[in-house]
Order: sequence, then C-alpha cells, then structure tokens
Amino acid sequence: MNDLVKIAVFVSGGGTNLQALIDAEKSGIIKNGKITLVISSNPEAYALVRASENGIATAVADRKKCSGEEFESEIRRLLEENGIELIVLAGFMSILSGKFTSLYPDRIINVHPSLIPSFCGKGFYGLRVHEAALNYGVKVTGATVHFVNEIPDGGKIIMQKAVYINDNDTPQSLQQRVMREAEWIILPQAVEKVCETINKGRVK
Ligand code: GAR
Repeated sequence: MNDLVKIAVFVSGGGTNLQALIDAEKSGIIKNGKITLVISSNPEAYALVRASENGIATAVADRKKCSGEEFESEIRRLLEENGIELIVLAGFMSILSGKFTSLYPDRIINVHPSLIPSFCGKGFYGLRVHEAALNYGVKVTGATVHFVNEIPDGGKIIMQKAVYINDNDTPQSLQQRVMREAEWIILPQAVEKVCETINKGRVK
C-alpha cells in the first residue's frame, strides 16, 4: 500500500466542493490521498465549519489583512509544516502569483465553473461566470478541473464535464446545476487521478 498523498484544500466560501471531496474520501472514490488541512482566505467561510465537523485541521490566511506576499508566505509556512504534497483550490477566490505557483508544478489543481477556455481568467469567478455564459447565450456550459500555473485558469486541463443550459435558467439556478452535475463529480475524480499519479511516481 502506498502512502496517502497529503492534500490541502484552499477555500474562501461555502465549501460545497470541499464537502464533495470529504464525501469522496469517505466513500473510497479518493483512495490515494487524504485531506490533511483546509486553508481559508476568509475567516467567515462556512467551509471551515465543514472541515472541523469532519475532524480536518483548519487554518486561516486572511487575504484582507495582509499583502499578497505576506499571504503567500503564510500559506507556504502552513504547507511545509504539514508536509502537504497536493493543493486543491475548491472555491478559492484569490489568484496565486507566478512565484508561488512555480514552486508547485503539477501539484496545484483548481475547479472552474465553465468549459475553459470560455468564461475564465481574471474577473471570472463564482456567479459572474454563469452570468457571462447566460449573457453570451451559450447553450452548453460545464466545469473544468485543471492544473494551476502563472496564467489564471490557463494550466493544463485534467477533466471537463458539460451541462446543458435551460431557457429559464438564472445565474443562481445554473450555478447550482453546474455544481451538482459537474463540479462535485469531476473534482473528486481528478483529485484521485492526480494522487494516483503521485503515488505511482514515488521512489520505492
Ligand atoms: C464553485 O462554483 C467554484 O467552481 C467557483 O466558486 C464556487 C465555490 O463554491 N470557483 C471559482 O469561480 C474560482 N474561479 P463552494 O465554495 O461551494 O465550493
């Protein structure tokens, strides 16, 4: 049996994607990794409650109270202290600098609520992504899980899943359906895939 890959999940809000990861670990969909730490950029994030209720260590790096450099050095300290091997951005609303992402090549993954390269990059986050998709009038949207590099939403794609748009969709109804039909399914699958690859690459 390989060692479990130590995962840190970065959050900023409700944490439904974190919940999907916790459930996937419990049900055995994630079997090569363990959620070891949850880091929130927002002290009020409900995701922190979800983590604590499931016995997962939490930390807050308050993005509003420090500079970008202080924020990232605090995160690096937490990652090193906890021996983290894989970072999962799950509803994390801060953009990490190229200096930070270059330290963890192919070791940071993100879930984005559209089919990249549509409706992504700087300024496209949360409900804004779904508003943009509805305003444009696309008939299909979805979610993407990708590696994170210095380009916002620009790293290599790991998985995507399409979701059809209904005529009467609002940004809120579309957000819920994209989460339920795409994000909560492909994020755990992608995490397991990357953890398996890390485990297979370990020097025995
Ligand atoms: C999710 O839809 C996630 O894809 C999106 O924010 C929501 C967070 O929900 N992330 C982004 O837009 C990042 N660019 P959650 O906190 O309930 O997981």
